[in-house]
Amino acid sequence: MTAMTQVNLILNGIAVSNDVEPRTSLADFVRDNHDLTGTNLGCEQGVCGACTMIVDEIPVRSCLVRAATCSGANIKTIEAFDHDEIMIQLREAFTTHHALQCGYCTPGMLATARDIVLRLPEADENQIRLELAGNLCRCTGYTGIVHAIKSVLKLRKENILAPKITT
Ligand code: FES
Ligand code: FES
Repeated sequence: MTAMTQVNLILNGIAVSNDVEPRTSLADFVRDNHDLTGTNLGCEQGVCGACTMIVDEIPVRSCLVRAATCSGANIKTIEAFDHDEIMIQLREAFTTHHALQCGYCTPGMLATARDIVLRLPEADENQIRLELAGNLCRCTGYTGIVHAIKSVLKLRKENILAPKITT
C-alpha cells in the first residue's frame, strides 16, 4: 500500500486538507479530489501548457508538480477567475478575436495570458509570442490569441491614460 502524505493548502481561496499519494500531480489533485475540471491535461509531461494554473501568483504546469509538495501554497485554477477583471477582459477579447476553437488549450492559455497582462503591460507582438511559447494550441494558429492579448493590453493602457471625469 502506498504511503499517503497530508497536504494543506489554499485552493481558490479555501483552505483544504487531503491525503495524497506521492505521485499525484497537482492537476490530478484539483480535478479528482476537488472536481475542478476546468484545468485540462494534454501531454502530462510539461510540454503543452494545457494544465497551467497559478501557484503563489506564478503560472506553473500542474502536471509536473506533485500535490504532496504543495503544503502552504496558494493555488488558483481557472475556476478562481470568474470575477477577475483581467480575466473578464481576456475572455471577451478571446471571443472577439476568435482565439479558441476546440477550447482545450484555453484554460491554460488564459492563465498565461493574464500573467502577460499583469507583468508585461508594454509587451509587443513578438514578446507576447515568446511568452506564449509554453502553451500549445492545435487549432487556432495563435494569431487570434495574440491579437486578443494585444487588445487587452491596449484597452488597459487606454483606461489608465483616459482622463478621469469627476462630478
Ligand atoms: S499537460 Fe501539463 S504541460 Fe501538457
Ligand atoms: S483551441 Fe483547440 S487546442 Fe487551442
